[in-house]
Amino acid sequence: MLALKVRNLVKSYGNFRALDGVTFEVKRGEIFAFLGPNGAGKTTTVKVLTGVIYHDEGEIEILGYRNPYPKLEVKVKRRIGFVPDEPEVYPYFTGAEFLSFILDIFGKPQDMKERMEELLDAFNVDYLGKMIKDMSHGMKQKLILVSVLMREPEILFLDEPIVGLDVKSAKILKMYLRKLADSGRTIFMNTHVLEIAEKIADEIGIIDNGKMIAQGSIENLRKGEDTSLEDLFLKLTGQDEDVRRLAKELEI
Ligand SMILES: Nc1ncnc2c1ncn2[C@@H]1O[C@H](COP(=O)(O)OP(=O)(O)OP(=O)(O)O)[C@@H](O)[C@H]1O
Ligand SMILES: [Mg+2]
Repeated sequence: MLALKVRNLVKSYGNFRALDGVTFEVKRGEIFAFLGPNGAGKTTTVKVLTGVIYHDEGEIEILGYRNPYPKLEVKVKRRIGFVPDEPEVYPYFTGAEFLSFILDIFGKPQDMKERMEELLDAFNVDYLGKMIKDMSHGMKQKLILVSVLMREPEILFLDEPIVGLDVKSAKILKMYLRKLADSGRTIFMNTHVLEIAEKIADEIGIIDNGKMIAQGSIENLRKGEDTSLEDLFLKLTGQDEDVRRLAKELEI
C-alpha cells in the first residue's frame, strides 16, 4: 500500500522552477529520508504534500486521495502531521495554551492526552508556562513535535527535525519514529543529517535542482560498494570532485 505517490511534480516561484518533474513513491509504514543539497527543493516538496502551497503541474496522491488540495484539505490534514523547519506558531500562546488548543480541535480524546503527558516527559518539555515567542528554537521545535506526535498521524512530515534538538531529544525522536513506523505510520523526513538517514530510514530519495536523482534503500543505492552514505551522497549529487578539488586548494 502506498502512503504517497508523486508524479512529475512541477512548482515554480515566479519564473523559477523549484520542482522540475519530481516523481517518487513512499510505502505505508516506511521511514523515507529525503536528501539533497541546500535549495534542492525538499522544503518545497513537503509544503506541496502538506497543502501549505499548491503545485502547478503533475499529480500527488496522499493516502489514496488524488490531488486532494484544496478540495479535500480538511479530510487529509486531520490524518497527517507536519513539523516545519521554522517552528513559528501563535507567538502569544503559552505552550500549555497551544497544546490545549490542538487537543480541543481533535475533541480531547483521553489517549491523546495520555500520549501528550508521556511525550512532554520524554522530550523534557517543562516550560509550558512560557509564551511561544520567548522559547528557543529547540524548545519551540519540541513543543510542536509533541503536538504532532501525540496525534499519531498516519503520515508524519518532518522538515529537518534533528537540527536544534539536543542529544537526548534527538535520540528519543529516532526511537519514537521507528516505533511509529513499526505500527504502520509513514514518516517523510527532510534531512541533512546522514547519520539519521543511515540509522533509521528504510528508503532514501535524493533531489537536486528540483529533480530526483536517486531513490532506493541504502543497500540498493550502494550497489554492493562499501561506501559511506556521505561519500555516496556526494557522488550521486556530483559534488565529490568538487570536494576533492577544495580539499587540495585548502590543503585539508
Ligand atoms: N517562497 C519562495 N519564493 C521564491 N523562491 C523560493 C521560495 N521558497 C523556495 N524558493 C526557492 O526554491 C528553491 C528550493 O527551495 P527549498 O526551500 O525547497 O530547498 P531545500 O531543499 O529545502 O533547501 P535547504 O536544504 O536549504 O532547506 C531554492 O532555490 C529557493 O531559493
Ligand atoms: Mg529546506
